[in-house]
Amino acid sequence: MPKKFYQLSRLERLAALQTEKTLTTGDAAFFRAGKSLTQQRAGQLIENQLTTFSLPEGMARQLLVNGKYYQVPMVTEEPSVIAAASNGAKLAVAGGGFTTNQPQRLLIGQIIIIDIADMKKLQLQLEKSKTALLKIANAAHPSLQQRGGGAKWLRLRPLSQQELSLDLAVDVQQAMGANMINTMLEAVAAELRPHLQATILMSILSNHGPDNLVTAKVALPLAALSTAKINGTLVASKIAAASRIAQLDPYRAVTHNKGIMNGITAAALAFGNDFRAIESAAHAFAVRNGQYRGLSQWQVQAKTLQGELTLPLPVGFVGGATKALPAVKPNQRLAHIDSAEELMQVLCALGLAQNLAALKALVTTGIQQGHMALQVKSLAISAGASTDEVLPLSNALKHAKTLDLTTAKQLLHALRQQR
Ligand code: MEV
Repeated sequence: MPKKFYQLSRLERLAALQTEKTLTTGDAAFFRAGKSLTQQRAGQLIENQLTTFSLPEGMARQLLVNGKYYQVPMVTEEPSVIAAASNGAKLAVAGGGFTTNQPQRLLIGQIIIIDIADMKKLQLQLEKSKTALLKIANAAHPSLQQRGGGAKWLRLRPLSQQELSLDLAVDVQQAMGANMINTMLEAVAAELRPHLQATILMSILSNHGPDNLVTAKVALPLAALSTAKINGTLVASKIAAASRIAQLDPYRAVTHNKGIMNGITAAALAFGNDFRAIESAAHAFAVRNGQYRGLSQWQVQAKTLQGELTLPLPVGFVGGATKALPAVKPNQRLAHIDSAEELMQVLCALGLAQNLAALKALVTTGIQQGHMALQVKSLAISAGASTDEVLPLSNALKHAKTLDLTTAKQLLHALRQQR
């Protein structure tokens, strides 16, 4: 029987991806060489640079989204995240894969105005200036408007009797857009300042993303969920119950969402995106109705298990770190993703796949069975195993009664005695 993808060596995997034309010859060579950020480039990116820091990159296999199979690069240090993503992806294929909507992509920036003596008067003044202010915003970044994007609308949001947020909505096209919107906001603020009987406190983008949403859905036949011991109908009803609990209980919701973000953040990193912005936006969205709730929901309907995930994904496809980090372009080509919208759709589906796999494991075998099998490798490394010793020590650990560092060290010692 041919080996499964995960059973291949790293070089065999790269060769397989090249043969199936997922990777170009040049990109396969790039991945083979394991090259990373140079010290010089790293020093240009941040301040007080000392060195570079590496993380493992792997790939979720065959994530079917809107009829197209994606191989999604993921950067993570956590064992079992990629296995879970691939597992979720495989389950979803039985239901025809994930479908998504066409994502929204509007970034909001704020000019915060304080010390307002007369709120009504200021609101009137700003209302009248809206068109002129939008022009100023667009003049600060003319190329964006030429590409079909740019500042779209302004909104006044009083925060108290004396404080107001002037919100600017910008279509940032393919960029993450932080620099663009901040430049626009500062241009508008500079124009406004001399005409206000109030103080401009600050101008900055908002990482809140209710205008940057994407939704992924999947509907699985119940039989696809059965395990060796439990039938699919029962597994599905338990997944639906787990989903309900994540709506009721913030303790569970945070962990539920952490599982979703395991996948999304790992892929966001591989695509050179600001994962802090993505995490902040996701968790703020999870608490939008006053209680922190699970971002995804699962229910049994029409003899299928139906899952849905909506969240803001403020991603960028060009500019910023996507240009500076050498692995990003090869990763974009590996995934065959061509735009920020497509990236949002794939990340959202990946999050739902990750969540599906986690919930299925939790309500059936429990998470530790799969987790520990993968974590033995980390344990072996922590115990001090050399590259050659990791595999034999992992195998020995799989048969050990207790899985902890002391046992790993004892077994490593025994292994070395035998050699
Ligand atoms: C572990 O990194 C993620 C999970 O805890 C997610 C979940 O509980 O849904 C398994």
